[in-house]
Amino acid sequence: MSIYQPGPVVVRGRDFTAYRIGGAIVAALLFVALCFQVWELFDGDARTVPEVSWIAADNTPDVGGMEASEVIIARTKLLDERWRTGPSPEGEIPDLALRSGVVLNTVPIEDPSPFLTEAWATPDNEALPMIKPSDRVAGISSLPYPAAEIFERPFARDWRVGIADLVTHLGALAILGFSFLLALLLAIRGRVPIVEGRSRRCVKRFGLIERATHWMTSVSFIMLALTGITIAYGKTLLLPFGEEFLGDAGWLSTWGHMMFFPPFALGLVIMAGMWLRHNLPSRLDIEWLRRAGGMMTDSPDHPSARKFNAGQKLIFWSAVLGGGLMVATGIVLMVPFYFFGVDGMSWTMLAHATIGLMLIAIFIAHIYIGTVGMQGAIDAMWQGDVDRNWAKEHHDLWLAEIEGKQPEGTR
Ligand code: HEM
Repeated sequence: MSIYQPGPVVVRGRDFTAYRIGGAIVAALLFVALCFQVWELFDGDARTVPEVSWIAADNTPDVGGMEASEVIIARTKLLDERWRTGPSPEGEIPDLALRSGVVLNTVPIEDPSPFLTEAWATPDNEALPMIKPSDRVAGISSLPYPAAEIFERPFARDWRVGIADLVTHLGALAILGFSFLLALLLAIRGRVPIVEGRSRRCVKRFGLIERATHWMTSVSFIMLALTGITIAYGKTLLLPFGEEFLGDAGWLSTWGHMMFFPPFALGLVIMAGMWLRHNLPSRLDIEWLRRAGGMMTDSPDHPSARKFNAGQKLIFWSAVLGGGLMVATGIVLMVPFYFFGVDGMSWTMLAHATIGLMLIAIFIAHIYIGTVGMQGAIDAMWQGDVDRNWAKEHHDLWLAEIEGKQPEGTR
């Protein structure tokens, strides 16, 4: 119960209805996307199949081309047989890269250097010291580039089919599902209002350093999320805009993903230093969580909170612990095989993707409540001041503290 006497409830205007209509439209669109994702999950097409296309030579093949083709056909057959003995014999047999009769196009290329796979597949002198040999089990592959057989490890196949694809699909489901629920909440409950209306008196909530750190961290996080989503879902989301666009976006995302991690990591450390003491658990949090912060009704009587309520503490710890794990696993992935062998790398990649997708879903909720979900919240991080009535309704004990009042029996 708030330590301040509640004032009269103010009747809300038409803009609140506009938010609800907007919420309903977004919820409807997200529902369609969600149905598509659920269908994707169960259509049995979660397997990743190598897609190498070859152009058949339209003139009579020369002897060299013929030989190369035969080798690849034999290897493709072997791959086919291995598939049949794999973990899912009842699954559809994938389309294979080559069928008999297809020969390689041996048209000479004037400057072959950009096409030589060795040019990018072989580590240069700078990368070499970072890579130590892995304990991998090598297999046989029909793919025409060095180290392709690494994908033929039985563990890698199980990992890819059973876990990696599942994580990608469930992650998409979590992000879409969570966004859908938030849009539905906006449509049904509406925006959380300042129940007593704005008082037009402001109180200082965050200083310049706090706001600058928050925005540096959040812009980096959003860029990391967008580039990570491009890496994980680029083919589904961007291929419709053309292969060239997908290629450019993929290239930018791969580099961008590494560029935005230092400001994100730095922001996390500063935020932890500035706000840790305000985010330690307290008895007030239980009551706040029990009543969902009092946000489901328009009553001015909210559960008491100091500078950060239980919901905000969850956000803080998600950022610090989840973000910390993302940075740690990201560093492991940036220097392949330096810390772990290939199995360890696979699990690290899985952990990075799982935690990343969960954080994206959590921070969609944070961004929602900080913008459209709650009247007056964005002022705190934008200009640094909040309306006194907002502070009274959501952080009564903090307001009392900065106004020099002594709350009784609230700790
Ligand atoms: C467009 C994106 C974002 C918006 C609009 C936004 C908005 C806000 C607002 C308004 C507050 C202050 C709430 C208060 O007065 O107590 C806040 C606090 C905070 N934000 Fe954000 N934020 C965004 C993104 C992020 C991201 C990506 C992160 C972390 C990776 C983050 C981490 C935090 C933390 C730790 C706090 C303090 C705890 C809390 O109030 O929940 N924010 N944000």
